[in-house]
Parts: sequence; structure tokens; C-alpha cells
Amino acid sequence: MSDLTHEALALDAADGLRAKRAEFVLDDDTVYLDGNSLGALPRSVAGRLSDVVEREWGRLRIRSWTESGWWTAPERVGDRIARLVGAAPGQVVAGDSTSVNVFKAVVAAVRLAGEGRDEILVDAATFPTDGYIAASAARLTGCRVRAVDAADTAAAAGPRTAVALVNHVDYRTGRLHDLPGTTAAVHAAGARVVWDLCHSAGALPVALDANGVDFAVGCTYKYLNGGPGSPAYLYVRRDLQAGFDSPLPGWNSHADPFGMSAAYEPADGAARGRVGTPDILSLLALEAALDVWDGVDITAVRAKSLALTDFFLRCVAAYVPEGRAEPVTPLAHAERGSQVSLRCATGAEEVMAELVRRGVVGDFRRPDVLRFGFTPLYTGFADAERAARVLGEVLGA
Ligand SMILES: Cc1ncc(COP(=O)(O)O)c(C=O)c1O
Repeated sequence: MSDLTHEALALDAADGLRAKRAEFVLDDDTVYLDGNSLGALPRSVAGRLSDVVEREWGRLRIRSWTESGWWTAPERVGDRIARLVGAAPGQVVAGDSTSVNVFKAVVAAVRLAGEGRDEILVDAATFPTDGYIAASAARLTGCRVRAVDAADTAAAAGPRTAVALVNHVDYRTGRLHDLPGTTAAVHAAGARVVWDLCHSAGALPVALDANGVDFAVGCTYKYLNGGPGSPAYLYVRRDLQAGFDSPLPGWNSHADPFGMSAAYEPADGAARGRVGTPDILSLLALEAALDVWDGVDITAVRAKSLALTDFFLRCVAAYVPEGRAEPVTPLAHAERGSQVSLRCATGAEEVMAELVRRGVVGDFRRPDVLRFGFTPLYTGFADAERAARVLGEVLGA
């Protein structure tokens, strides 16, 4: 056994979150490092979903909208997510996709902006959907989009900026952006900010309320383990809710949805972010998946995430032949999310395919990036060591 293998076992033995792993369906012959794309299945989900299908839908049928709490599930699940992103209850609603929530937030932010503010700043390296949606929102609202490096957003915001749309963690490089500093600078310029939390919620503390963030969106199928296509969420800061003018004012966000009135009157609170009938099966699967967070302190999750990615980087340096795979994820903790991306100069796609064949599941992003996501609730140090060792074998072959 190598020194790093010994060290991994000792780190796993001392890991306070280790017991959480048993709450997930995982197999011992696979190292799963793709939870930043699709989180693993929490054990609580299957039983809960079968109850929802067989009893709530099968036997109670329409009564479940009230008796099983289906109607209020978007706000109830939103409040469970709120705790994980540093928001007090009543400001997060679960539903729709991240893309749709980006649209709601960006258009609503532009509608709140003062006269002469016709610029939407977009993170130049953004996950593409945010850029597409921002461009469409700009066309609809008479704004123009200006792409800036996320790290330069603070300096770029000016008197014409209506809103800045920024990814908290870059999906490709794993770089963590400065949410407190950027939010403060965008506010100082008189503009609003929308944070995309897809790659940070559930992996590190976000502190939305403490930083006065205006709007935030995120998905729940990555570090929140909600399942394929699970509903996304929208955060609207409490004092902005009354002025939140949704571009998608569906009947579910009406103050009196069953009044069936021809005139739209928006609901108060987080419900104003709703649109149409929620996807109940996915939403309740997500609600069950969130049980794994009960009693979990997100700062402990962050500490373990950094220890895991530090250790993985050391293992990569020890096992991978020089020059074959270089980290593109920042080494500074303040700039690192919960993934490690390695630039692999030659044959990256085939390298990842071979890793998967050998039981190490990460993913590949064109043209040359290997991504390894570390989910502190179920990834261990021995997983990190094995992944780096197998990567070294594949790249050394
Ligand atoms: C940063 C970011 N934003 C948005 C999305 C996509 O959102 P959705 O498919 O929920 O619309 C992803 C998906 O991976 C993402 O990583």
C-alpha cells in the first residue's frame, strides 16, 4: 500500500460526514465523481415516491392537491433549499428549470431597473443556457448584452447596467467567484445581480441573505441529489418580492388561483415566482432527497470538499506522468468550488471513456477538460486516491 493509500484510509476514518454515505445508493466497485452533473440517488427517495404514486395519486387522487400538500409543495421545498443557500424562509420557490428561472429573474431585474439602464452583463464563460436566455431577455426588454469575465463583473458594472448574471462556480473550470464582493460592487453601481448557483448549492455556503443578493437560481440535480430533471429554484430577496414583475405570470402565481379571474393579480411572497402546475412527482422526489441534509452543517461540507479536492490534487501530482494533465481549477481555496478540472492535452475524451471503463466516473467537456466532482456527503478520500491512481495508470499507459 502506498503512503497516499494509507493517508486516504486515515482521512476517511476521521471524516465526520462519513456516515452519510450509507444514505445513498452507491456501489463499491465504482468511484462516482460526477455528482456535479447528476447527484447519486438518496435511499429515501424510492419509498417516498412509491407512496406518492400508489397512495397519494393512486388512492387519494385529486384530494392530494390539498390533503397531501401538493399545492404548497413548491414553497415548502423552496424553504428546505433556502436553508442550504443561506436564505430565510419565504424567499425560494422550487419549480421549472434553471433556464426558465434565469429568464424570470433577468427580465424582472430589468423591469426593476431605473431609467437609462439598458445593459445586461453576462459572465463570458457562462453555462450556455444563461447566455442564450439573457440574449433573448435583452431583445424582449430593449437591452443589450455585454459579456465580461465573471471576475471582472464588479469593475464592469456601471450607470447603464440593469443587471449582472453571474455563475457562482464556473461549470468548466470549477472556479468559485466572489459573491460578496461582486454583489456589493454591482449594488454600488445601482444595478441588480442574479447568481446561478447550480455548481455551488449543496457544496459550499452561499449566504444569499447575508450578502443582500437580489436574485438567485439553481438546479437541484447536482449536489442536491434531486434526480434527473428535478425542479430548479428561484430566490427573490424578500424586499424585492412586492416589485417582482414576473415575465411568466401563470395561474399558479395568482393571488387567488381558483378565482379563475381574467385579470392577473400576483400572489405575495415566493409564490409569485411560480408559473403553471408543478411537476409533482419530481418535486416530491426532490423533497425526499433533501432529507439527507437534515442535521448537516454546510460549513462542514465545505471543509470536507476542500480537503477532498486538495488531496485529489496531491494524488494527481504524485501519480500522473508530468505534463499529461494539468489542473485548471484554481489552487486557492477562496477560488475553488467542489470539482477539479484537469486539462488533458491529448485524447481527453478517450481518457475519460477509459476511466469510466475502469470504474472511475467523471466527465469530459470539450475540447480537453476532464471534470471530477466531489460530493462531500458521499465521496471519500479513498475514492479520490483511487481515481487519481487509475488516471495515472491510464495516462501512463
Ligand atoms: C451553471 C448552470 N446553469 C444552468 C444549467 C442548466 O439548467 P437547466 O437545464 O435546469 O435549465 C446548468 C446545467 O448543468 C448549469 O451547470
